[in-house]
Amino acid sequence: MKNSALAHHRPQWKTHIGFLLAAVGSAIGLGNIWRFSYLCYKNGGGAFLVPYITALFIVGIPLMILEIGLGHKMRGSAPASFASVSRKWEWLGWWQVIFVMFGIVLYYSVVISWCLSFLFFSFNLSWGQDPNAFFFKKFLMVSKGPFNIGDVRTGIIFSLLLVWFLNWLIVFKGVQKGLERANKIFMPLLFILIAIIVFWGFKLPGAREGILVYLRPDFTRLMDVRVWMDAFSQIFFTLSLGFGIMIAYASYLPVKSEIVRDSLIISGVNCLFSLFVGLGVFAVLGYMAHTTSVPISSVVSESIGLAFIAFPKAISLLPAFSRIFGVLFFGSLVIAGLSSSVSIIEAFTSGIVDKFHYSRKAVVSSLVVCGFLGSVIFVTQAGLYWLDIVDHFLTQYGLVIAAIFESIILGWIYKSNRLRQHINHYSSWRLRGWWDICIKVAAPLALTVILVSSLVEELSCAYGGYSRLALVLIGRDWLIYTLFFAILVASHHWKIDPRERMLS
Ligand code: TRP
Repeated sequence: MKNSALAHHRPQWKTHIGFLLAAVGSAIGLGNIWRFSYLCYKNGGGAFLVPYITALFIVGIPLMILEIGLGHKMRGSAPASFASVSRKWEWLGWWQVIFVMFGIVLYYSVVISWCLSFLFFSFNLSWGQDPNAFFFKKFLMVSKGPFNIGDVRTGIIFSLLLVWFLNWLIVFKGVQKGLERANKIFMPLLFILIAIIVFWGFKLPGAREGILVYLRPDFTRLMDVRVWMDAFSQIFFTLSLGFGIMIAYASYLPVKSEIVRDSLIISGVNCLFSLFVGLGVFAVLGYMAHTTSVPISSVVSESIGLAFIAFPKAISLLPAFSRIFGVLFFGSLVIAGLSSSVSIIEAFTSGIVDKFHYSRKAVVSSLVVCGFLGSVIFVTQAGLYWLDIVDHFLTQYGLVIAAIFESIILGWIYKSNRLRQHINHYSSWRLRGWWDICIKVAAPLALTVILVSSLVEELSCAYGGYSRLALVLIGRDWLIYTLFFAILVASHHWKIDPRERMLS
């Protein structure tokens, strides 16, 4: 009785495509646009697809099925789902949503706000002849080091406010009217914008050479272990695994759901999207190398360097409609980023609502205010350093450690075949024993190799040339504080046993 009453109150996706688009929206983020193609270029071009697709099938899709299956069975957010497995493991669910919400999203929104500012700058190509100096000296006014905080960059604060307002608006309106509706607009729009960018790119002189550099396979690179590690870590970051997001999104699925098929669709669309965007990115880089007569290797870059320096430079060089191109490019980044950031705000909110039964609207509103305030440190003149350090620790260690625990707890302690039976009960596409092997052995093994080698590298040389003190105080301690809060929240008692919401 209680079970059905609770299930009844749980929000649900209105349409199946709405769920798929929201999950794809979470998975497709800045990483797909500014990182994937660079990884390909650096790691053997087309040959990189071998480790990438291997990682997709060995850990990506199996973990996606695991998270969606867990959320579907437990009908709860990550904390509620792990608490249903055992109260002992509830902290893990909290830790995931806390360090992503009070870590990754804080700087992710700042980056979205830079994209938003650059969208406006595109109207008059404000970065001028030297986008590098414009970005670091004029726009960010980067200070000397992480402890030279300097002033808050007021210009950026305005776009940051807008980003958090949009985050708030979308999540506040709830699952159907907010997230589902927003993603139903965002995702098709993003696909159209990117398609225009790619086809526009194809037409530019030099595009062919650029794309060849991106995809020309060099199979000898496959002997390098780092290439494989890059593939594995990219896969689970790009699919938003280990964030607790897919668990929450899946908890809003109807009982009759195709878990395996949906996981394949979400993962497949995400990876094809990355591959496709790469064509546009390298076509434009090829064009830039062609017009400035420099080798393509000297114009290639990733992440911040690609979006805020290389692309602005290329946009200024375009023969026609350069401003429109800028708006399309930065608009795509904003949309891709927002659809990811709202997903974790939802995942955190649903954790709090599941446990404390506060009003959803109050939770979202307070969360967004805290989120905005927390982001401010990344808008100071030392923001770029903080962003770099926090990102390094949270993604290289936080996510990896959380995903190792997740696969071990669900694979060995809860037992993956229990979840497999649940999934097979509802899915027409059946999972077999290989899935258990992926969850119990392949995933933890691959993740442990990544973790250990990051640690070895960390200890042998300080990341990014920062002082040890900065790395410890900003990076390591960020992880420790979030873990501490996770344990604190997890130790609070549940008003209603989380297992009551479970599907038997
Ligand atoms: N998958 C996204 C990417 O490739 C990252 C991401 C997903 C994310 N969900 C998020 C980042 C929530 C921050 C918050 O870029």
